[in-house]
Parts: sequence; structure tokens; C-alpha cells
Amino acid sequence: MKGVAELKKPGKGRGERPHGPHDKHNPGVDLSLINVILKGIDASSRDAILPVLRRTQEAYGYIPKEAVFELAKRLKTTPAHLYGVATFYDQLSLVPRGRNVIRLCTNMACHVNGVESLLEFLRAKLNITKENTSLDGRYTIIESECIGSCGRGPAMTVNDDSYYNLTPRKIERILARYK
Ligand code: FES
Repeated sequence: MKGVAELKKPGKGRGERPHGPHDKHNPGVDLSLINVILKGIDASSRDAILPVLRRTQEAYGYIPKEAVFELAKRLKTTPAHLYGVATFYDQLSLVPRGRNVIRLCTNMACHVNGVESLLEFLRAKLNITKENTSLDGRYTIIESECIGSCGRGPAMTVNDDSYYNLTPRKIERILARYK
């Protein structure tokens, strides 16, 4: 298994739903991966939940509902509890995401600097669906909490890269770097 991506900061997973049109594109979820995910994990420990969800995200690219139900049994907890943890961290997703994840800060300083019009621009330019992913599966947009660059807003990250003082023209140039 590849290294697990770091959880950088908590968020609310805004705009994401556990069940959406993407599910119909993924009719079969290979639950045999659960054994790999749980390898070396003390399933009786409450501290196991977050690492297990992170591994699940890594293994499937998101956290499928079928995996949530299976993990709840194995960790002796409830699916609702796992959903609660999964939706707290914006690094975890209950729906498939695009190849590139854009986190656009919509907190106060960036809001004052016009982030709302940039969000509209991005949604229109990328053909973003209700599930916040572009039709071609290339991008997912997440409205993010402050990313610590308030003096240089509007600000966003794309995957692990940070960008500041955004304008529509600048965003177009940035996005061209991500396939
Ligand atoms: S409010 Fe947007 S980076 Fe802080």
C-alpha cells in the first residue's frame, strides 16, 4: 500500500454527499481490500478509526458506503459513527473525487477579496456537477476553511500546491498544469 496522505486540517466536507450519481459508475466494491486495510490494526481500539478511514480512502480513492458498513462490523462500531468521522475531515471523501482536488478558501478574508466570483468562474469553466467534480473527472472543488494565507487572498490549493492572489486569468494558467 502507498503512503497515507496526511490529514492537514479538519473541514466539514461541504457539498459532499455519501450517495450520488457517482455510485452508479461503481457498482462493485471489492471488500477483500478491507483485510489489507485492517492489517496490523488493533480493531478493538477506538484510536483505530481514523487510521482505518485514511487507509480506506487510499485504497479506494474514497470511502465507499459498502466499506463503511463492513468496517463498522469489524471495528465494532456503527456506520453512523464512521460517517461522522469521515465527514469531519475534508481529506476524507464519501464520494469519488477528481484526479486533482482544488481547495478554494471561502473564509472571511478571501470572501472580502472576491472569492465568490472566482468560485462561480471555476464551476462554470470546469463543468462542475452537483457532487463538486468536473464531468471529465479531472477536478473536484472543495470550499475550504482558511489555509493561512489571508493577506494574499483569494487563495487555494491544488493537490499539495498553494496559490495566492488569484484572478480568473491566473486560475486558468494554474489549471493548465494539472491533467
Ligand atoms: S481567509 Fe482565505 S486564506 Fe485565510
